[in-house]
Amino acid sequence: MAIDIRQTALTRARYDRLARVYDLMEALIEGFNFRRWRERLWSRVRGEHILEVGVGTGKNMPFYPPEAQVTAVDLSKKMLAQARKQAQQLGLEVDLRTMDVQHLDFPDDSLDAAVATFVFCSVPDPVLGLKELARVVRPGGQIILLEHVRARHPILGRIMDWLNPLMVRVMGANINRRTVENVQKAGLSLRKVEDLTSSGIVKLIVSEA
Ligand SMILES: C[S@@+](CC[C@H](N)C(=O)[O-])C[C@H]1O[C@@H](n2cnc3c(N)ncnc32)[C@H](O)[C@@H]1O
Repeated sequence: MAIDIRQTALTRARYDRLARVYDLMEALIEGFNFRRWRERLWSRVRGEHILEVGVGTGKNMPFYPPEAQVTAVDLSKKMLAQARKQAQQLGLEVDLRTMDVQHLDFPDDSLDAAVATFVFCSVPDPVLGLKELARVVRPGGQIILLEHVRARHPILGRIMDWLNPLMVRVMGANINRRTVENVQKAGLSLRKVEDLTSSGIVKLIVSEA
């Protein structure tokens, strides 16, 4: 499968543009919900060598396991610049690199676990990205995602399909992705899917390479 270079450049440009205001835009929802969901995800993560993809401004950093070596990557240099500031403020040593999850610069089976939060809504080819995670994480290693997905409810699902082009333009994120199905399409072993909201729109997806 080839990378869609045009869509990938557009995604990068969108997040470069949003980098300075991203934390402000998300502040309310971060405080109300995201923070506790992040904490829940990271309490599940095991292993020494951990990859975070789509690190953004570094909102997961306060939850990194203290004993782990974390490498964190993002497509957008400007998001990474914010993440670098966050790591400095927290006094953390994080290996931060510009990288596309659709083409990861790591050897096969070289990591114990990979994590992504609210990332596969914006990756141009999510199945390709998930296959890359399956390649770089050792067999039996974890791939844990926190993602918003298309609603199960047929009417709400249709509304999300209808609003999607606008949301992609404004936020850079697709709101109608079927990420659980994409995890399966990428050949990962699904271990557990937790609904974090009654609508089923936000899911904690635990899988293995
Ligand atoms: C909605 S933000 C989420 C940021 C962060 N994970 C969080 O939870 O706040 C999505 C992030 O994924 C990054 N991203 C999108 N496509 C990517 C790709 N193909 N490879 C790596 N990072 C990507 C974006 O640059 C952006 O920083």
